[in-house]
Amino acid sequence: MAFATRQFVRAASSAAATAAAKKLIIKHVTVIGGGLMGAGIAQVAAASGHTVVLVDQSDEILKKSTKGIEESLKRVTKKKFADKPEAGAEFIEKTLKNLTTSTDAAAVVHSTDLVIEAIVENPEVKNELFKRLDKFAPDHTIFASNTSSLQITNLANSTTRQDRFGGLHFFNPVPMMKLVEVIKTPMTSQKTFESLMDFSKAVGKSPVSCKDTPGFIVNRLLVPYMMEAVRLFERGDASKEDIDVAMKLGAGYPMGPFELLDYVGLDTSKYIIDGWHSLEPNNPLFAPSPLLNKLVAEKKLGKKTGEGFYKYK
Ligand SMILES: NC(=O)c1ccc[n+]([C@@H]2O[C@H](COP(=O)([O-])OP(=O)(O)OC[C@H]3O[C@@H](n4cnc5c(N)ncnc54)[C@H](O)[C@@H]3O)[C@@H](O)[C@H]2O)c1
Repeated sequence: MAFATRQFVRAASSAAATAAAKKLIIKHVTVIGGGLMGAGIAQVAAASGHTVVLVDQSDEILKKSTKGIEESLKRVTKKKFADKPEAGAEFIEKTLKNLTTSTDAAAVVHSTDLVIEAIVENPEVKNELFKRLDKFAPDHTIFASNTSSLQITNLANSTTRQDRFGGLHFFNPVPMMKLVEVIKTPMTSQKTFESLMDFSKAVGKSPVSCKDTPGFIVNRLLVPYMMEAVRLFERGDASKEDIDVAMKLGAGYPMGPFELLDYVGLDTSKYIIDGWHSLEPNNPLFAPSPLLNKLVAEKKLGKKTGEGFYKYK
């Protein structure tokens, strides 16, 4: 019995060692899209010792992204190294040394282990980008999308590396939010999945895994919840102010659903719910809201336009 157990343990640990040896250790990262999300992802990857190339369409945009990263690093450092300003300055210097920028994605992916796409939420534009980069990236390179609402499987199908393709869904603001949803499509290999989980941990996040289902975990629960709040208000059952107070004081949420909708952007929420509604027209959780549609048509998109459900002027 003891001999059999020892043999089993030895076999299992050698199998684990072989699997681990096969995993890709990600060192060089290319982040495409230097907006809100891409800049944050580039920052946390560079801060954790990866070499990062951040790509966007113009030097002007990249200058803005870099400035944003520098300011964010200063904020992080003030907290993290409150008593050690010298160590803080060294941390910023090291992080920025790991980060370069480019406007030519095809020219930089030849030496990258992982491409993280964080460009505009448009399937045609994303597919075109992945299809082009597939020709230039080495065989071992893993592709990942940060999309919030598109199917990872469809994006993977624009390449010839469906087994080395997954979702890496970060949250806004990236340097603050601890979660990453790692999305495994039916074609994503176990090795790719494990490499993406390891990378998420290496950048200081807590990864969870989810299949390629609309909204993954967080948005699948959050978006229908926010839409249900809008429907409650539309029926006249409660005021938006009272719904917000109720969810903060009764459920302990940091923001009420209308405050959250205004923060996320009403156009973004409408885009997500419309997409899901077209996939599952009979699902009442995904039904569009006349009030949300009206506010978006009036360009009242939330905080970013100065008015949504609330006024911010
Ligand atoms: N904003 C959020 O809260 C959030 C959260 C999680 C995931 N996401 C997802 O992340 C992605 C990016 O969102 P964002 O809020 O950072 O958008 P954003 O508009 O702030 O940034 C997008 C950037 O991509 C650049 N870009 C567009 N097309 C490009 C191309 N072909 N090549 C290189 N750069 C290109 C734009 O110039 C822009 O700088 C989207 O897929 C979105 O669904 C957003």
